[in-house]
Amino acid sequence: MADPRDLKFTLTDFRRVRKMVYQRVGIALNDSKTHMAYSRLARRVRQHGLKRFADYLDMLEGAEASPEWQHFINALTTNLTAFFREPHHFDTLKQHAQERLRAGRPYNVWSSASSTGEEPYSIALTLLQVPGVSLANTHIVASDIDTQVLQHASAGVYDAERVASLAPALLHRFFLRGVGRNEGKVRLKRELRQYLEFYQFNLVQESWPQMGPFDAIFCRNVLIYFDKPTQARILRQMAECLMPDGLLFLGHSENIQHICDAFQPCGRTVYRRVNHD
Ligand SMILES: C[S@@+](CC[C@H](N)C(=O)[O-])C[C@H]1O[C@@H](n2cnc3c(N)ncnc32)[C@H](O)[C@@H]1O
Repeated sequence: MADPRDLKFTLTDFRRVRKMVYQRVGIALNDSKTHMAYSRLARRVRQHGLKRFADYLDMLEGAEASPEWQHFINALTTNLTAFFREPHHFDTLKQHAQERLRAGRPYNVWSSASSTGEEPYSIALTLLQVPGVSLANTHIVASDIDTQVLQHASAGVYDAERVASLAPALLHRFFLRGVGRNEGKVRLKRELRQYLEFYQFNLVQESWPQMGPFDAIFCRNVLIYFDKPTQARILRQMAECLMPDGLLFLGHSENIQHICDAFQPCGRTVYRRVNHD
């Protein structure tokens, strides 16, 4: 029996959703994502008191500057992440930072799809273990398209179970345990949070402002949502923002070897910028 709360959602509606999200943020939804699109957006449709997706989509298309667009995008992003996801990346990062800081150079990192912050905080937790790191020589920029995850990230508050596998010494040094109504939560200490700067950035926007140069860019588990031409464009732009010999970290299922020749592999899903003379 049909759920009386079901909203009218046709294949045409799905195709409109697909086109709209692709045009704004490059996310390419295939047909298998029909159910996902329904379940992620239904709350927004109801919130506006509407019974048909078509009315919601008309409303969006009729108001280019409406704040509802951001809700639409936030609903369709997938934000799965974790502290020290793909731990081998953080060993490579530590070594790279050590070499540069030892040579008296600053070290700047960009986490370009930072989601709720676990990735940029893992970067900070890694860099703060490198001798000589200070606010004067180290900076981490974290960005995402989704404003809701950015809010979460900049607050730096997590369920304690998300950090349960971290080394006790790290937990003790950099996290505060919540008490009272914050029982079961942890918060990153200011000492660490002050190394990070969060802002919204759309990786698929045509022209990028002058950024960096960065010593390392994390672009993990986001290229998979884009088609090949979009991936190639982003990678070229990222190469422009990297220092010579700068590192690009990708997700475990992302391979760019036949997409962009600005990088050469230098470890498991780590790439080094090819230097031009
Ligand atoms: C699966 S998460 C990856 C989080 C983290 N990098 C990791 O590997 O654990 C993908 C993130 O990419 C973001 N994203 C999707 N499209 C984007 C775009 N066009 N520009 C910037 N971020 C985007 C999503 O909002 C989401 O937070």
